[in-house]
Formats: sequence, structure tokens, C-alpha cells
Amino acid sequence: MYANGTSLGTRFLRPSLTTALNEGVSHPLHLLILVTLLSFATRFYKISEPPHVCWDETHFGKMGSYYINRTFFFDVHPPLGKMLIGLAGYLTGYNGTFPFQKPGDRYEEHHYIGMRMFCALLGSCLVPFAYLTVLELSKSLPAALLATATLIFDTGCITISQYILLDPILLFFIMGSVLSMVKFNSQQHRPFCTCWWFWLTLTGTNLAGALGVKFVGLFVILLVGLNTVHDLWRLLGDISLSMVSFGKHLLARVLCLILLPVSLYMTLFAIHFFVLNKSGPGDGFFSSAFQSRLIGNNLHNASMPEYLAYGSVITLKNIRIAGGYLHSHWHLYPEGVGARQQQVTAYLHKDYNNLWIVKKPKANPDPAGPSDPVKYIKHGDLVRMEHKETSRNLHSHPHEAPLTKKHFQVTGYGLNGTGDPNDYWRIEVIGGKTGDLVKVLRSKIRLVHLATGCYLYSSGKTLPKWGWEQAEVTCSPYMKETPNSLWNVEDHFNTKLPNISLEVLKPSFPEILIESHIVMIRGNSGLKPKENEVTSKPWHWPINYQGLRFSGVNETEYRVYLLGNPIIWWLNLVSIGLYITMTSIAAIAIQRGSQLTSNVKEISQVLLYGAGQIMLGWVLHYFPFYFMGRILYYHHYFPAMLFSSMLTGVTWDTLLKSCDLLLPQPIARRVYINGVALLIILILYSFYLFHPLSYGMIGPLAHEPSSPMAGLRWMESWEF
Ligand SMILES: *[C@@H]1O[C@H](CO)[C@@H](O)[C@H](O)[C@H]1NC(C)=O
Ligand SMILES: *[C@@H]1O[C@H](CO)[C@@H](O)[C@H](O)[C@H]1NC(C)=O
Ligand SMILES: *[C@@H]1O[C@H](CO)[C@@H](O)[C@H](O)[C@H]1NC(C)=O
Ligand SMILES: *[C@@H]1O[C@H](CO)[C@@H](O)[C@H](O)[C@H]1NC(C)=O
Ligand SMILES: *[C@@H]1O[C@H](CO)[C@@H](O)[C@H](O)[C@H]1NC(C)=O
Repeated sequence: MYANGTSLGTRFLRPSLTTALNEGVSHPLHLLILVTLLSFATRFYKISEPPHVCWDETHFGKMGSYYINRTFFFDVHPPLGKMLIGLAGYLTGYNGTFPFQKPGDRYEEHHYIGMRMFCALLGSCLVPFAYLTVLELSKSLPAALLATATLIFDTGCITISQYILLDPILLFFIMGSVLSMVKFNSQQHRPFCTCWWFWLTLTGTNLAGALGVKFVGLFVILLVGLNTVHDLWRLLGDISLSMVSFGKHLLARVLCLILLPVSLYMTLFAIHFFVLNKSGPGDGFFSSAFQSRLIGNNLHNASMPEYLAYGSVITLKNIRIAGGYLHSHWHLYPEGVGARQQQVTAYLHKDYNNLWIVKKPKANPDPAGPSDPVKYIKHGDLVRMEHKETSRNLHSHPHEAPLTKKHFQVTGYGLNGTGDPNDYWRIEVIGGKTGDLVKVLRSKIRLVHLATGCYLYSSGKTLPKWGWEQAEVTCSPYMKETPNSLWNVEDHFNTKLPNISLEVLKPSFPEILIESHIVMIRGNSGLKPKENEVTSKPWHWPINYQGLRFSGVNETEYRVYLLGNPIIWWLNLVSIGLYITMTSIAAIAIQRGSQLTSNVKEISQVLLYGAGQIMLGWVLHYFPFYFMGRILYYHHYFPAMLFSSMLTGVTWDTLLKSCDLLLPQPIARRVYINGVALLIILILYSFYLFHPLSYGMIGPLAHEPSSPMAGLRWMESWEF
């Protein structure tokens, strides 16, 4: 690498930097092959080690398996990454039967390597992508080589590419979008030619890919969006361009950067729903109507009366994610928890104690004989809900609820259905008007307590031992409309009414698409740190404050620790400061109208526009994390790290090149070549020191003198 670095320098940097650089750019193929090979070699080395489940492989490997056995599951990320992992596993002979229960489980004879290799393949592509991007933006080979060296020899990038994770797939699409955007920009003098269309379409495709793996893909969409707005603004200023041509430009971008990605993204979901057609652990997160699509769910192919009537036996499901069924049982609230009456809870599992009979409020005992006509329940009607098993009425009163103290307690009250006026509830259909009927599965209803005006509410909090760790149900006096106070009828039995097949109530594709997005977004914002969990703050990341344990904790285990190569990460951090300083100087010089030589002009151009785009990418992929409420991890920094590494390449190249301004030509050239070489040697040496982080450490931990990593634990917070 070193030898190459120097020979390059001498070969491509002839007296006039400009001509030399252009010449250099025209023969980069053998170098491209070299960096690609190095990238593959570092990522594929020891790919099968350790032969057990590492870190989040337990999630993403399992989800890949679900695609192979077609079982429906729920995850907070869009489906593309897991679908590709499943496909890679399927094509390489993995049969989807490994349970991926917890990190550390041995794979034994299961074929997991194919999935790891697929991730490593995409992870290896980041290097050539970065190489081509930097080359295009800076027109400087040394800059591209420096950027790729930081990526090839970064232990963090290597580790994150070697396991069954979403990150390499996400990074692949992010870098793919950036590369195609940059290539597209370079075609701006040849609008509407084949190349131009090719890169534009590829940009759109990669954007859909990035968003299809994780919602973090939105940041790169923003980057491409800003670039497109800038580009269109420039075209608008070009008065040689007719309005019709401008319209064509606009239309091409709408087509390739909006319509194409949106339709690809929807196609992903269509495939996702088509493949996952069996009932599984994800069912409970979705509405009853959604579940009726899944083979094996009790609602699949079921038949029941369509509209609710007095005398019906029903189960009520809360609309919240993983909202339980309204439940009661032969147990009283304990002493000191509101009134000592029968418990009412929300229970996640199907159970006969979830059944309730909907009765008329006053008539007691119910006078409706077998021959009486059926009376449908309409929006605004009063009902009494009798628990089928215990014959107690759903009841509320102004006593405080067990956990949510500002709400009222909900109990089962009365004997054989005889209660008091605190048992009366009004049924309201959301978006309904007087006369609307209550439809099973589809109607969202609210139960309003007549005496106090509060809403039947499932707080999602878990009751202590006395409540069998089921979820709390309260009556909320607050008007706010949240899913917690909305319910839908799931099971419905009424012998007097004709059954209809639920087939007709199955939700359409747009409905399930919207529902799964609502569930994903709620799931994401619900990812709050648990107690004692390692939490990471965004300011930790650029300084490489703390990594993540991928495998192993103690001396006897095979340990892999996800941590960036500190030399590279600190170099990246310094480079950001350096970049800001240099750009400020260049901007001031331009603003003051200094007499700029053509060399300086070119350098400023690269700094402001080429490196500026990379800097913008870093900003967009880093700062939004400061505003996120969800739990954050170290690995969230990797998209930003890619931009940071590319910036390092361009910044140092420009800095060393500008020695030209101060020193005589031959000396400047020597400084430039040696400077780039020195940086690459530094990177190689640090990789030599830190490579066990990625390729596995066995033996004493780093604080012991006999450890392979002795003396390298430069920060207290590193755990290896
Ligand atoms: C599908 O695969 C997952 C993960 O390996 C496993 O937990 C689940 O039981 C499997 N389901 C079926 C129906 O085989
Ligand atoms: C799946 O593959 C594993 C390992 O190769 C094997 O032990 C198992 O029997 C296979 N299961 C099925 C259902 O083919
Ligand atoms: C599903 O419904 C169809 C038609 O109503 C019926 O022929 C089929 O046997 C049902 N399948 C199951 C598993 O109930
Ligand atoms: C409730 O009904 C049961 C059985 O129908 C009967 O034995 C019991 O006496 C009734 N209790 C009251 C208070 O009506
Ligand atoms: C409706 O279906 C239920 C079982 O799902 C069955 O018990 C009931 O008899 C059916 N009712 C009619 C009127 O067919």
C-alpha cells in the first residue's frame, strides 16, 4: 500500500498539478481494483469466526429465518434489509430452522456463512464507492486513496460489515445514493443522454433501498433532495434554457427521484406482505382486521355476524400496539388499591375470560326472549357489559386507578348482572354519526362511562403480582384521543344473526401499508432505554468514546469489540475542524476579492463544492440524532463516519497541495507526496495495532500486561 501510495504520487503529480490530476483521473482502473481487493480481503478474513450468534444477529438472523418459513413478525425497521438477509440465506442453503435465541448460541451445522458473506459483500462495496465518489468530487487520486485507506483499515467498518446486520446493507444503499448523485452531477453538461438517465435512475433506486432498510435512509434522501433543489435553481438561472426544457428537467427528476423510489418502496412492502402470510409472533402488534389476513390466526377464514347487537358475546381489543383484550377474572383488587372489587385488566392472550356480553342498560334480568327481534347497537347507545364468566358488570367510579393515579379505577361489580348506574357505558364509533352500526374488526369504538364521562383506557402499564402481571385498565377523565382509549370488537358470537365470512372485511393493501407504518413509527419512538442498559450519546461517537461488545465478555471467550480504529476516528475528527478552518479562509479570500491564481481557485472550488457536499452529508447524518428521543447506539454513527472519512481524504489532500502556494515547486511536491504517504503509513500501523478488535481476541483483557491488546486501552471507557 505504501509503495503504491508513493509511486502514485510521483507518477501522477507532475509539475502542473492541474494537468497531472486530470491525467491521473483517466487511469484509475488498476487502483480501483486494488482498493476493492483490499476491501474484500479485510472484510472476508475470518468471516466465519466466531461460529456463534453475535450481538444483533439474534434479531436480524431470526427475522431472515422468518422470511424463509414465511411467519409474520414485527420489527421497527422497514423490510428490505431482513428480506435480503433471508434471501441470501435461502440461496446459500440455510433452511430457516436455526432459532437465533440469544447471542452466544452456536450455529453448529447450520449454514450461516452465506448470510454473513452477503453482508460482507455489501460492506466491501463501500470502499470502491467512496473511492469513486471522492475521485469525482476532488479529481485527485491521493485524496481518493486517503479516503479509501481510512475505510479499508477502520476496525469499526470491518466489524460492522462482517455480521448478519442491517448496517452493511443500509450503508451500501447510502453510499450507492451518494455515488450515483455525484456521478449524475458530473453529467450535467450532457442532459438526457443515456448516462445521465442511468445515474438519475440509480440514485432513485438507491434512495428507495436506503429507506427500505431503515428510516435513517431519510437523511440521504434529504441530502439528494437539497442537491436536486440546488441543481434546479442553477438551471432556472440559465436563461439560455427555455421554460419547456426546464419543465423537462423538472419532470425527469420527479419521475426518477420521487415516483420511482415511492413505487419501489411500496413494492417492497407488497412482497413483504405476500411472503409473510402465516400467523406468528407479530400478530399481536396489529389490529384484528390485519390479523385476519394471516393463515393460522383464529380470525383467518373465520365467520361471524357483521354488526354488533344486544345479546352479543364479544371480545374487545385495545388499538394500542400490542394492546390486550379487555379481561376480568375471579380476583379482587387487594386492600388499599381503590375499592375492593373484582379486577379488570388487559390481557395479551386469547382466553375465555376475555368474553363479555353486551346487554341493555336497565332491563334486568334481560327480558329479551329467544323470539324477540334483534336490536343492533348504534353509535351513542347505552350498554351494560357483563363479564361472561363471572357475571359482573364493567364498572367504574371516582376511586384512583392502581398505577395511573389520575385515572379512575375500573372494576367488575354486581351479582348475576345486577349492578348500579355506574355500570352504564355509552358506545361511540370514531368518525360515526347517529344511527351508525358497530362493525366487527373495522369500527374503532370508545366506551364512555355515563356517570363520570371518563373513557375506558388501557395504560399499558404492568400490574404487580396481585394482578397476574397483566396490563392496567383505567377510566381516563382526559378527552385526549389516543389509541389507548380506542377499542375494536374482535370475536363476535350471536346466534340470532347470520354469520358473514371475514374475507369481505380484509383490509386492502393501502390500509395495511399505512397501519404497518403507524405501528413501526410508534414502535420506534417507544424504544426507550431500559434500566441498566448501556446508552450512548451522540457526542460520544466522533471521539470514539465507547464501542459495543459483539461477542464475549471475559478472558476465556472469543471477544469481538465494535470500535473504530482510534487513529482514524481522531484523524477524522481533526479533519472536520481543519476543513471548517480552511473553508472559512478560502471563503474570506474569495469574498475579499484577492487576486487568486488558478491553482488557488481550483483548490477553493474543491473545498467549497466537492468537499462541501460531503460535509453536508456528515451534518445530515449526525446532528439529527441529537433531537431523537429513542435509545441510541454507537453503531448509529457509521453512516456519518463514511462521510467523515471521505472528507478526511479531500481535506488533507487539499491542505498538502496548498504547500504549493508557500514553498518552491519541487519542495512542495515532495511535502505533498510524503505527507500523503505518511498518513497512509500511520493508518496502516494503527490497523496493525488494533486489528484484534475485529478479528477476535482471546486471553487476558487489555488491562493485563500479558494481553494481546496490552497498553492499547487508551480510554477508560473502552471495554476490551
Ligand atoms: C420460523 O423461524 C423462526 C426463527 O428461526 C422460529 O422461531 C419459528 O418457530 C419458525 N416458525 C415455524 C412455523 O417454523
Ligand atoms: C435444516 O438444516 C439443519 C442443518 O443443516 C439440519 O440439521 C436440519 O435437519 C434441517 N431441517 C430441515 C427441516 O430440513
Ligand atoms: C376457508 O373458507 C373456505 C370457503 O369459505 C372453505 O372452503 C375452506 O375449507 C376454509 N378453510 C379453513 C381452513 O377453514
Ligand atoms: C346468581 O345465580 C346463581 C345461578 O344462576 C344462583 O345460584 C344465585 O343464587 C344467584 N345469586 C343472586 C344473588 O341472585
Ligand atoms: C356462526 O359461527 C359460529 C362459529 O364461528 C357458530 O357457532 C354459529 O352457529 C354460526 N351462526 C350461524 C347463524 O350460522
